[in-house]
Amino acid sequence: MDGLATVDAKGVVVPLNFTMPMAEKPYSYNYEPPPGVPARNTREETHEVKVFDGRAVNDRLSLDREGFVLVRRPTAAADLYDEAQIASVYYAECERLIKEATGAKRVVAFDHIVRNAALSAKGNQIKQPAGRVHNDYTAKSAPQRVRDLMGEEAEELLKHRYAEINLWRPIRGPLLRSPLALCDAQSLAQENLVPSDLRYPDRTGETYAVTYNPAQRWFYFPQMQADEAVLIRCFDSAQSGAARFSAHGAFEDPQSPPDAPPRESIEVRTLVFF
Ligand code: OGA
Ligand code: FE
Repeated sequence: MDGLATVDAKGVVVPLNFTMPMAEKPYSYNYEPPPGVPARNTREETHEVKVFDGRAVNDRLSLDREGFVLVRRPTAAADLYDEAQIASVYYAECERLIKEATGAKRVVAFDHIVRNAALSAKGNQIKQPAGRVHNDYTAKSAPQRVRDLMGEEAEELLKHRYAEINLWRPIRGPLLRSPLALCDAQSLAQENLVPSDLRYPDRTGETYAVTYNPAQRWFYFPQMQADEAVLIRCFDSAQSGAARFSAHGAFEDPQSPPDAPPRESIEVRTLVFF
């Protein structure tokens, strides 16, 4: 394996939540399920995992290889809870940043989630941190997203290299609670990526639930600031096997001060065309 094998041993040992292996296809509802239908058919299992300090190796990380990298870039959006600013200022900024970071021809931001456990409630769009390890797209849903979003251009675009990259940023720093753990794509095995239906009112998406494997190598970026962001490459058509994907999930950092405020973050999803 590459240079990361010599990784600095600094890190934390923390519980990460994985999906238990199962016979049926996993599903979960993104909305209130019909009466009597469980919101999901999966079970979680927690494993104590060493999560390395990604700051120690960030200059050796690559989106193409490990599938994530930390960048420093302030945002001009003054309020990331304001949907109008997200649409008018922030999406364009994310597109520019990802274009520069990847050399892509074209980047299309198409979706975002704001997370804040204290503000998350029925009736708003704000979500809690996602503590179950997953990947946002699968071999099936990656091209499907391009078809859903790019209309008549889709088939031509799918003939060339494309990727799906999230830009994940704290809204307020330093981020002391519920940081995001990121799995080195080089350490992911296909057998641990389990296609799962994600049911929306109007469509069914597919994500990967992730089962545990001691070979997985995990990283996080301690105390992220609001002028920092992580690029997460959830899919890349240029890679093969499990290396096309990555995996991530929030965890509770035992080093968080007990009175640390809830994590506030925003993730923007983009299609990236080369
Ligand atoms: C993501 C994601 C989880 C979290 O950015 O795709 O799953 O807790 N985030 O921020
Ligand atoms: Fe995700």
